[in-house]
Amino acid sequence: MTVRTILKMGDPRLLRVAEPVREFNTPAMDALIADMFDTMHHANGAGLAAPQIGVNLQLVIFGFKQNQRYPDAPAVPETVLINPVLTPLSDDTEEAFEGCLSVPGLRGSVPRFVRLCYEGVDQHGNPIRREVADFHARVVQHEVDHLLGILYPMRITDFSKFGYTDVMFPDMDPNEDD
Ligand code: NI
Repeated sequence: MTVRTILKMGDPRLLRVAEPVREFNTPAMDALIADMFDTMHHANGAGLAAPQIGVNLQLVIFGFKQNQRYPDAPAVPETVLINPVLTPLSDDTEEAFEGCLSVPGLRGSVPRFVRLCYEGVDQHGNPIRREVADFHARVVQHEVDHLLGILYPMRITDFSKFGYTDVMFPDMDPNEDD
């Protein structure tokens, strides 16, 4: 298990459309997923997509009990989501601040669907289907965007709400990596 280097915005590998995963329960996949959890936990992230470590596969992980990058966020179950498909459950959208491990030091307000269904498979190839809302739905949309080559700044509509975390949120823990 290894903490991998997280690619930063500007790296063209973050702009690719990811390929579907076709193999499950292989040593290579198991090692990749273990590395992603090590990398996400090391960076105190709420989620991580395989393209962020340079692996162009439709694989994201997310979840936490308590997250110092998002101290007010409710817990999200630790999840491995592969080959995901998102379906909004209403037209309702909401703006909230997001950060990204590939965009260190910055936060921006991003509109996201409030409620959606996500489907895909877990690391063993077993189907996943969940209907979620609010922060859980936001995290999934952010991570799945990485599989489409989309970083959250590309979703910002009001650039007056985009800036440095330590300026906009001076009370946040300065020891965090973001
Ligand atoms: Ni991100």
